[in-house]
This record gives sequence, C-alpha cells and structure tokens, in this order.
Amino acid sequence: MSILLLGQTLAFTADPFLHPWEDCVAHHARGGVLIEGGRIAAVGDGATLEQDNPAAEVWDYGSDLILPGFVDAHMHYPQTGIVASWGKRLIDWLNTYTFPEEMRFKDPAYAREVADRTLDLSLAHGTTTLCSFGTIHPESVDAFFEAAEARGMRVVAGKTCMDRDTAPLDLRDTAQAGYDQSAELIARWHGRDRATYAITPRFSPTSTPAQLEALGALWAANPSCLMQTHLSEQGDEVAWVRALYPEARDYLDTYEAFGLIGERALYGHTIHLEPREMDRLSETGAAVVHCPTSNTFIGSGLFDLAGLKARGLSVGLATDTGGGSSFSMLRTMAATYEIAQLRGEAIHPSQLLWLATEGSAKALHLDGVVGRLGAGAEADLVVLDLASTPAIAQRVARAEGLWDAVFPTIMMGDDRAVRATWVAGRPVPRPG
Ligand code: GUN
Ligand code: ZN
Repeated sequence: MSILLLGQTLAFTADPFLHPWEDCVAHHARGGVLIEGGRIAAVGDGATLEQDNPAAEVWDYGSDLILPGFVDAHMHYPQTGIVASWGKRLIDWLNTYTFPEEMRFKDPAYAREVADRTLDLSLAHGTTTLCSFGTIHPESVDAFFEAAEARGMRVVAGKTCMDRDTAPLDLRDTAQAGYDQSAELIARWHGRDRATYAITPRFSPTSTPAQLEALGALWAANPSCLMQTHLSEQGDEVAWVRALYPEARDYLDTYEAFGLIGERALYGHTIHLEPREMDRLSETGAAVVHCPTSNTFIGSGLFDLAGLKARGLSVGLATDTGGGSSFSMLRTMAATYEIAQLRGEAIHPSQLLWLATEGSAKALHLDGVVGRLGAGAEADLVVLDLASTPAIAQRVARAEGLWDAVFPTIMMGDDRAVRATWVAGRPVPRPG
C-alpha cells in the first residue's frame, strides 16, 4: 500500500554552503511525497503524484511544509532531567549537575523511563534521528536502543567511557571494562534494525591514555562504527587537557595518538581549534558538530561555522541537551543564526535547514538514508505549520517568497509548529 502526503515540499539537491542556495533547492508550493514500504518512493508535483497513484492513501497537509525529519547529531539523553540547570561553566556543570544525574542510570528502569521521555520529546519537536551519549552503564545504552526500536526510530548511541580519577568513582570503568562492555554492545546493537553504534570516550580529560588506546583498538576492529567525543569546547577544558597530556601537540592529538580520528569520527563543539587541528579534521574527513544552544548556555564560545565549512569540513548540528537548553532543532537553527550574526555572518535559512537535516545526516554517515526528501530515503518526515503562533502568523502574513515565510518559524518556532512527525512511513501518534 502506498501513502501520499500533500503539502509544500522542500528538498535539497546540493549543499547550500558550497553552491549558491538558489541552485540547491527543489520547492513545490503544492507538492507530494509518495511513501512505499517505509521509504520515500517519489517527491514531486502533488496533483501529478495524486493522478499517477489513485490507490494511495492521501494525507493532505494543505500549505504546511513537509521536510525530512530533523537529525540531532550530538546529545546526551541521560541529561534530559537536568536540562536548564543554573549558573555553571563546563567542568563545574559536569561535576555539579551532570555526574550525579548520570549515576542514576545504573538503574535500567530509570534509564528506560528517561529514554522514552527523551525520544517522545524529540519526536514532538520533529526530530526523528538522534546521536546520543549514554552513561558508563551498558544498561543505559540498551535502554536507549530499546526505546528507539519500540518507536521504529533510526538512532546512534554508545556507552560513555570514563576511567580516569577526574571522574567520580561511581562513574568510572576501566580501560578493559570500557573495551569489553562497548564490544558487547556493538555485537548486540550495531546494525540491528535501525541502530548504529558509536564508540564513545566522553573526552580525553576523563580517560587515561590506556583507555583511549583500548577504544582506538576497538574502533580499528569495528570500523563501520562511528566514534563520538568532545573537542575544544571551553578554554579551561583545553588548558586542562594540555596539563593532563603534556606530550600532545594539541587537544585533537590526544585522540589522534590512539587512532581516534578518521572519517567516521564525530567531535562535538570544536570552538577553540588550532590551525593544525582544523587541517587534520579536514584531511581525515572527520565531522564536527555545532551545538549552539549549549555553547551559549554553558558560555563556551562562538563556533566558526562559515570558516569550518569553507575549509571543507563536514558539519552536523545538534542540541547537546542537557548542556543545550532545548530539544528543538528549530531553536537550534535560530541559535546557529544568532551566533553567526555575532561573528558578522548571516546564515541563509536554506543553509540552516540543510544543516539540521542533510548536514547532520552526512556527519553521521547516514546521508541518503535519512535527512533527505528524495526517492530511496527512509520516510522520516516532519510537517511544519508556518503560522503556528499569533506572533509568527502576523509576520508570515506579509512574507515575500518562500524563505521569508520559513525564516520566522526557524527563529520563533517550537513544538507548536510541528503539525506531524512521521517515522519509517508511519505518523507518530500524538499524546492525547
Ligand atoms: N564534555 C564532556 N562531557 C560533556 C557533556 O556531557 N556535555 C558537554 N556539553 N560537554 C562535555
Ligand atoms: Zn556533549
């Protein structure tokens, strides 16, 4: 059986950071998305698709905008309960709020409850794929993958490894246990249904060189896994890394020395990079992930989006919740715009939408699979009401053209703008 969604459709045909955005978008004011077997079978003119597929079940969304579901390329589901905790910078924030909360995830029932809540919140905000850190407890990763499987979602996750005395005793594994538990999770989850495993050293300050070496070996033995961590988020953190790893050339070198660099690597934040680090990231094809609401909330700094894209880096976009202050990729795009403005650059709405969909999917090596409104991609979709609040509606009433109509929702929209979310070709039931 086929399903036909009617509405405004917007698809990317190329990266609008690398080509004039006018050449990168296919827009239908009255378009259609044909779904067959959980995948997109065709995108095009709505009336034509309706005529050609008379047996399809039609869902008419009027003038609402149909996009690929948002892809959140870096977040911490175990931090959902401590989002918006006041007054701390990174290291203090980890010690005061994050680590005590993460200790609770040794209880599988609590882990599952928070995993369920996080995925439901994300879906309500139009996010269909997340790449999440777990805690050091393997049960936290099982809980997340099980919750995603129950919803049919494509997700990426990994057990956060920490074996150094910089982390509290209750949140420490060992180099061997980190390796063994991660290996078991890879065997259980990587490639099962829609799951991808990411080998996950939290960041070099909380791992010993022996643990980084062990995880480098694990990745070499499982090269189809992703590897996610943090890099150069805050000044104090960079200085700390320098003190803990005196022989390293720079922060990235603490990973590179142990094989934790490569095409499938994902580094969150990357704000205070040295030129050598930028060169190595670009040479190796690694991805960096911009976490703008976190970078302002924790006071980390202004990510150089235009500069890193100009160097050819793969850039994903993410909430980093609970360091980030929102579950919304709309809010995340707004913060991306604001941070770029503070650097003297105006990011076009097409570039913002591309980052939150195709850009993040590319960073996760899932391009063509999710984050794309095109034939063959999996049918994970979000439908946006572009006049979801009185404040947005009054602005859109005078909009001139597509981007002027979309930008107010990017800047001012939240979960009220999400008319529907579809996962694997099925509408996500709404609470109530
Ligand atoms: N660096 C190491 N761990 C974390 C974390 O949980 N959140 C953020 N924002 N940065 C980190
Ligand atoms: Zn993070």
